[in-house]
Formats: sequence, structure tokens, C-alpha cells
Amino acid sequence: MSTPKASTNSGQSSPHQAARGVVTDNLLSLQTFILDEEARHPHASGEFSWIISAISLAAKMIAYKVRHVRLQGGVGSQGDVNVQGEEQIKMDVIANEVIMRVLGSRHSIAVLGSEEDEQPTILRRGSEGGKYCVLFDPLDGSSNLDTAVGVGTIFTILLNDPTIPGAVETVCQPGTKQVAAGYVLYGSSTVFVITTGHGVHMFELDMSVGSFLLVSRDLKMPRTCKVYSVNEANTEGFPEGYQRYLKWAHANDYSSRYIGSMVADVHRTLVKGGVFLYPPTAKHAGGKLRLLYEANPMSFLVEQAGGMSVSGTKRTMEIQPKELHERTPLVMGSSGEVEHVLRHLRG
Ligand code: AHG
Ligand code: MN
Ligand code: MN
Repeated sequence: MSTPKASTNSGQSSPHQAARGVVTDNLLSLQTFILDEEARHPHASGEFSWIISAISLAAKMIAYKVRHVRLQGGVGSQGDVNVQGEEQIKMDVIANEVIMRVLGSRHSIAVLGSEEDEQPTILRRGSEGGKYCVLFDPLDGSSNLDTAVGVGTIFTILLNDPTIPGAVETVCQPGTKQVAAGYVLYGSSTVFVITTGHGVHMFELDMSVGSFLLVSRDLKMPRTCKVYSVNEANTEGFPEGYQRYLKWAHANDYSSRYIGSMVADVHRTLVKGGVFLYPPTAKHAGGKLRLLYEANPMSFLVEQAGGMSVSGTKRTMEIQPKELHERTPLVMGSSGEVEHVLRHLRG
């Protein structure tokens, strides 16, 4: 029997093909990828890789619970209002507990900050080995969960500054200081997207082996794409410039896509291009999205993928945060599309 040819796009045999027709292209798990990355940093001590590995474990656990949420009784209200003044659903609390339990055992973490907890949690001081701070939105877009629409988890990793006594002051760092950032989208597939400052890389959960496998390395978003993503019900409350931009987009053949889960809307923007906006509204004059654990991690990813992220006309990642749950207006996506919005904001 002739040896099967490993086909590639050109139909030529793949450069990786061994004599026997075995395809030997890399099959990389998130774990292996992070260890490869670590090897690129001689001073790396492996603690950082342990944190990513912990987040990956939490993601797999949350993915299972999200996909069986009705069977597990996770839908419906927790009966509480969180620090955001928003009704908590049971799955918000469950996802939060999973992440706290998984990350709590990592010895290099000093502080954990969650959308669901009013104050940061101090695990250990710098002098006790606390090298990193991890902030996260355990379940983003959770109001969509009861309709089986994509939801996600967002995380960011900062260095702990042992000279700063207070936990809040320690985590209130501008987005430019992020060591890593990423999200997990529990959508039609479960994808894990991460950057450590060297490009954006995407992994997909292979349930049969329980691993996130690399599907896209150094992802770059298109410079333009005629899609905007905003909750147009709030238009009357948007500042003038945003309203002018929407009128311009309507007159220039744009289409609109809005899911209402930031992770899903930003993931589509990252993969296909376009622009995602959450402007100031009548209800949220300072914007709705949280700077530290929604806007900054997503901005890091978008910029690493060649896009832009602004709050008003300022680069989002240069904002100096003052408190853990601070909110910000946001426009992020393809650089060409963000420029169109900025042109209208500048008047
Ligand atoms: P969360 O579920 O973590 O509170 O986040 C919800 C956020 C974000 O996911 C989404 O972009 C935005 O809320 C949608 O807000 P509107 O429903 O006001 O459009
Ligand atoms: Mn959120
Ligand atoms: Mn949330």
C-alpha cells in the first residue's frame, strides 16, 4: 500500500512529513506552550507557569459546570447583590469559588482580586514569596447563561510590589504593567486566549484528552472590518461624538453584532476585526466595564493582536486606576475602526 501523503494547502507534502507519511507538525498543549515560553526567559522560575496551569484547570472545571448548568442547578439568582450593585447568579459564585480554590494553593500569589469580592484577598506578603497578583472576572456575561449564550472568564496577572503595604494600592496598576492577560470563552467550543507580551495565542479545549491545544499562534486582527458592536438601546445617553460615529457607520454600510457578553464580543472582534464599544451611558456615566479585570486584560490582548483600545481619547492601558472596581468607557478593536470612532469623538 503506498504511503499516505500528508496533504498541506498546496497539496505538496508537508515539510514536517517524515518518510513514512506521518505528519509531525507540532501538537502543542497550553502546558507545553507555557513551558516553551518560560524557557525563553532565563530568569523565569516556573512560578508563573504554575499560575497559568492553575487558571487552565479552573477553566476546565468552569467549562464543565457551565455546560451542565441546569443539571447542576447553577442557573438563577444567588439572591444577593454583589459589590457592583448587580444581581449575582449562582454560577457567578460557583465560578468565583473554583478560581479562588485553585489559585489559593499557588505559593507565588500574593493578592487575588475578583469582580465578585468587594476587597482583594491577601494570600501572602512579598517576603513570604508572594510574587504575583491575579485579578479576574470569574464569569463574564453571566446574565446570558440562562439562555445558553457564550459566557467567559477574564484574567490578568500583575507583579506584586512588596514595598506597597495595601492590597488595593498594589493591584491598582496601569494596564501597561500587566505581565499576562487572557480569557476563556465558553462558547460553541471552549477557547483559551492568552498573551504574555509576545503575541496572542489561542487554544481550544479537546474534551477527549482534557487539554487546551494550540490552534492559533501570534493571532493578528484585520486592520479594518465594517462591523461595530454596541448596545444601541443606550444611544440617546451616549455623548455626542459616539452618536455622530453611529450615524456615520449607518451611512457607510456597517453591520452590527452585539452578544452582550464582553468575552464573546471581543473574541469575535479579535478574530474577525471590527470595533467593540461601551460608551458612557445615562445609567453608567463613567462606562459600565471594569478597568482592572475587563478593560485592561482585553486591551492588552487587542494591542498585542495589532489593534487599539481607548477610553475617551486616552489609551486605556495608560489610565492610573484608583480602586479595584473602577469602571471605564471603552472602544477597542481594529486600529482602522478605532480611528474612525476617535475622529468623531474629537469632533
Ligand atoms: P458581567 O457579567 O461580568 O457583569 O459582565 C457583563 C458586561 C459585559 O460582559 C458585557 O459587555 C456588558 O456587561 C453588557 O452590558 P449591557 O447588557 O448593558 O449591554
Ligand atoms: Mn464581566
Ligand atoms: Mn462577571
